[in-house]
Amino acid sequence: MNDPVFTVAAQQGNVADRMGRPLRDLRISVTDRCNFRCVYCMPKEVFGKDYQFLEHKELLTFEEIARLARIFAALGIEKIRLTGGEPLVRRHIEKLIELLAAIPGLDLTLTTNGALLAKKAPALKAAGLNRITVSLDSLDDAVFMKMNDVDFPVARVLEGIDAAAAAGLAPIKINMVVKRGLNDQSVVAMARHFRGSGHILRFIEYMDVGHTNGWRMDDVVTAKEIVGAINADAPLEQCDPNYRGEVAERWRYSDGSGEIGVIASVSQAFCRDCTRARLSTEGSLYTCLFATAGHALKPLLRGGASDAEITDAITTVWRKRDDRYSEIRTAQTVKLHKVEMSFIGG
Ligand code: GTP
Ligand code: 5AD
Ligand code: SF4
Ligand code: SF4
Repeated sequence: MNDPVFTVAAQQGNVADRMGRPLRDLRISVTDRCNFRCVYCMPKEVFGKDYQFLEHKELLTFEEIARLARIFAALGIEKIRLTGGEPLVRRHIEKLIELLAAIPGLDLTLTTNGALLAKKAPALKAAGLNRITVSLDSLDDAVFMKMNDVDFPVARVLEGIDAAAAAGLAPIKINMVVKRGLNDQSVVAMARHFRGSGHILRFIEYMDVGHTNGWRMDDVVTAKEIVGAINADAPLEQCDPNYRGEVAERWRYSDGSGEIGVIASVSQAFCRDCTRARLSTEGSLYTCLFATAGHALKPLLRGGASDAEITDAITTVWRKRDDRYSEIRTAQTVKLHKVEMSFIGG
């Protein structure tokens, strides 16, 4: 890799993987539970009443997470994103945010379904959260409820977004996963709604994460189709990425009324620049969203290992990393028994 940013990372002694990719982002799943049952993520047939979620003692404590975060920060992490499941269902999450906000120089953010956001936004901001991303798949209640599968109304997510904006958790990003035949008809209405709002709406191609969502290529609405539909309604121009490895391709409205993003993880894989590590709810390190196994850090944390030993364990894993799942996706890899997204975050 001869990109200046990656080269500087290497010169600074930051750990790089086998493809020269530095460790930049850490996504931390704080719970495997969620108050939604999105059909593309936690289908009810699998995540029903009898589903065994992790017990509380199996989860990393806030102190354990913060210790790992400090170690990762020393290794060059610049951004931490809290995910789930639904991160806001983890009790006292603002206490964790306070601990993480004390680590200097980090962009601290969180991805939520917005259900509890109206209530929690001020406390999240006060604890030191910088910004927030809210998932919302349609503005049409019937479609949205069919997707979240718990009859959760659109209006309450919109209230959460407003509360986050009022609390100053900006810029706000809105994530919409597009699945053919389910919410593809909602794309243009969503774009119209958020155009001019100052929030950045991003459309995500439906992915074959986990092994329970019954993914088929035919269900993917490509970024190209999405941009085409919006452009026909309001002209768009492509803009440069904010940083190397940004997952969303950016498009701005030609009339200056804001921007949208498309995350083409299926049709235009971005593994080449992937600098993301994931920490699962029970403390395992995953080097790819589509990994079939992680590397347990909890035994080290709970077995008295020093920071140096944990640092060693992490760098050993990262140096061996050669993941590029989305670039090599085939009919065979789709069938692999991959870890569920609700377990390692999106
Ligand atoms: P910012 O640019 O910092 O706002 O965040 P982001 O775009 O990295 O984060 P976000 O969590 O909002 O990512 C949006 C979506 O892109 C995720 O929910 C995933 O669906 C997808 N995504 C993020 N990272 C990866 C990745 O490493 N691989 C794949 N295949 N998809 C990813
Ligand atoms: N494909 C694409 N995105 C997904 N997400 C969850 N499951 C999938 C999937 N199968 C998104 C959520 C949320 C983020 C955490 O990941 O909608 O925005
Ligand atoms: Fe919950 Fe998010 Fe998965 Fe939906 S996509 S079930 S809100 S974790
Ligand atoms: Fe990174 Fe894996 Fe996603 Fe590729 S598929 S961008 S390696 S997480």
